[in-house]
Amino acid sequence: MNFDKICILGLGYIGLPTASMFATNGIKVHGVDVDANIIETLQAGRIHIHEPGLGEIVQKAIRSGNLSVSNTPRPSDAFIIAVPTPFHNDKCADMSAVISATEAIVPHLRKGNLVVLESTSPPLTTAELVTPILEKSGLQAGEDFFVAYSPERVLPGQILRELIENDRVIGGINPESAQAGCDLYTVFVKGEIVKTTATTAEMIKLMENTYRDVNIAIANEFSRLADRFRIDIWEAISLANRHPRVKILAPGPGVGGHCISVDPWFLVEAAPDLTPLILQARKTNDTQPHFVMSLVKRAIGKDLQAKKIALLGLSYKPDVDDLRESPAVELAHLLIGEGANVKCFEPYALEGNIPGLEILPSVEAAIFDAEIIIFLVNHSQFRKISPEKIITLTKARTVLDTVNGLEHSTWEKAGFKVHRLGVNF
Ligand SMILES: NC(=O)c1ccc[n+]([C@@H]2O[C@H](COP(=O)([O-])OP(=O)(O)OC[C@H]3O[C@@H](n4cnc5c(N)ncnc54)[C@H](O)[C@@H]3O)[C@@H](O)[C@H]2O)c1
Repeated sequence: MNFDKICILGLGYIGLPTASMFATNGIKVHGVDVDANIIETLQAGRIHIHEPGLGEIVQKAIRSGNLSVSNTPRPSDAFIIAVPTPFHNDKCADMSAVISATEAIVPHLRKGNLVVLESTSPPLTTAELVTPILEKSGLQAGEDFFVAYSPERVLPGQILRELIENDRVIGGINPESAQAGCDLYTVFVKGEIVKTTATTAEMIKLMENTYRDVNIAIANEFSRLADRFRIDIWEAISLANRHPRVKILAPGPGVGGHCISVDPWFLVEAAPDLTPLILQARKTNDTQPHFVMSLVKRAIGKDLQAKKIALLGLSYKPDVDDLRESPAVELAHLLIGEGANVKCFEPYALEGNIPGLEILPSVEAAIFDAEIIIFLVNHSQFRKISPEKIITLTKARTVLDTVNGLEHSTWEKAGFKVHRLGVNF
């Protein structure tokens, strides 16, 4: 199949780079977003998200006339849905954006069109949620038009390269739909494009992230066991990983971000009777900030009322600015809930604004009058901090390292007492 015009709904971290890729490869792309500020920003030639190289490629696409944006879809050869799929407070998937984006396509759907869902979704979403909505057009899915699911696996910070180079899975509601999806992404994908069914493709994305979550949960559980049995978890993991078929991941203060800490819930919701392990992994990772709080109490005393605590790192993983579902933020709230006076510093989100948290613009400001400094993210710039300098800038003499990011002997030599997660003290 040939595609001259495509329409992409949702211009965020996934939709905007994807739109630019097609547009700079000669396709007429119309991008749609319900957020008026995003449309205004893009029309003014700027972008609203931080991703290296994206600003240039979006500008190039807009200047070439191949990329236009507005708040409503237009008739096209293919439609791609890349809207958010968060969860509700009860951890059930919030599919409202997928539903409204699909409904917005219906009036524009024509014979021969292809619709691809890219949003991470519970199993059967493409076949049983998206397809019936599209069939309200009076056209028959799989015959008059094609429907496919394609999971996105790009790494923030590397999105433009990975969109092109990563292998891509395309799952169709029938083989013709998978083939149509394959024809579409061939426009810019250099990795292998592999065809399968829509539900398999949905499951692949959920399985990938659930696999990571369960493996981090076991590492976190091992860190608690190491604490109980008075061994050093970091030494134990590095020695266990000498086994040629063992690869234990690193423990830490928990699991965050909008993928790994969210997607396993879609499986738990879809089949609660079949997912006790997945549910337990979620619970283990979600309670890891509580375990870290117990270590804080061990280090500075049970009563945290008015205790001054500095938290370094708030993002959910090293060297990114993403604070969504971050376990560091959860720990901050837990400590504040116990009456502690918490000051935070996040080098990648200096303007970060989280209700109830005091986020300071420098390490110095965060640690100045602290009793304890807690490292929560293994940012590369934290590993370079000089303990000899830090000790002159803070009252704190106790450090808790939850990510094993510090050269602890150097910090101890400088005068700090260093406690580590997974090493009893
Ligand atoms: N960001 C990633 O690294 C990543 C990786 C893999 C999968 N995903 C998945 O891709 C999907 C999109 O993620 P994202 O990070 O791009 O989200 P995002 O929040 O950055 O962007 C989504 C955009 O969709 C817009 N939107 C919401 N409802 C809409 C509607 N009805 N019509 C048109 N636009 C609408 C929002 O305003 C927003 O700009 C999610 O399901 C996510 O889980 C994301």
